[in-house]
Amino acid sequence: MSILLVTSSPRGAASHSTHVATDLAHKLVAADPSNTLVVRDLVANPLPHIDPDYSTGIYTPAEARTPRQAEVVGVSDAVLDEVFAADTIILATGFINFNISSTLKSWVDHVARSGKTFSYGEGGPKGLVSGKKVYIVLASGGIYSEGAAVQMDHAVPYLRSVLGFLGMTDVEVIRVEGVGMGADAVAAALAKATAKVDAIAAANTDQAAA
Ligand SMILES: Cc1cc2nc3c(=O)[nH]c(=O)nc-3n(C[C@H](O)[C@H](O)[C@H](O)COP(=O)(O)O)c2cc1C
Repeated sequence: MSILLVTSSPRGAASHSTHVATDLAHKLVAADPSNTLVVRDLVANPLPHIDPDYSTGIYTPAEARTPRQAEVVGVSDAVLDEVFAADTIILATGFINFNISSTLKSWVDHVARSGKTFSYGEGGPKGLVSGKKVYIVLASGGIYSEGAAVQMDHAVPYLRSVLGFLGMTDVEVIRVEGVGMGADAVAAALAKATAKVDAIAAANTDQAAA
């Protein structure tokens, strides 16, 4: 199994999403010695925002692209190669201003490519990225899985929509939520997330042994 870990928190070493997602990635690798891990750190190496050269370049045949178009489309191609090569994708993000981090949004912008990851046919849109297992690890100061703030969660519904549009429908969410509510809340949120990580890792270990 090839695992792709995408981290995107702007909070560096303090990031809960990076910590929990990295823990999950390492435990999945340990579940089967043949598993491999690729890490894309969107904070250390942010992707460029898509721009006019990108928006034109992706609709221009490769041989007719300007050098700048070829460069920016090449960035997207490299990101797509990682996505298509992965069996399992772990997306880690902090909940930033009621949505995913802007660096992860930029990753989505490079992944959603007409003719590559989705197409339009007679039956409407078709996702072209199939057979992936996706884990979303989302850390948030407040609680958005239940209660009054549910409708303010623009992160999980957005990711489920865009990933589903691209064909990635097997999506599991691990929340580290309520971390803005004091030390006890942080400990409880991390314990709950880690229990979920351990359950996922154990299931993968059993599967590898079967
Ligand atoms: C710039 C910024 C904006 C944030 N916006 C929100 C928000 O809208 N709602 C919320 O519940 N928490 C918000 N938080 C708190 C983060 O969700 C929380 O710190 C979370 O742990 C971030 O994920 P990380 O630990 O992976 O970095 C914000 C934090 C930062 C730094």
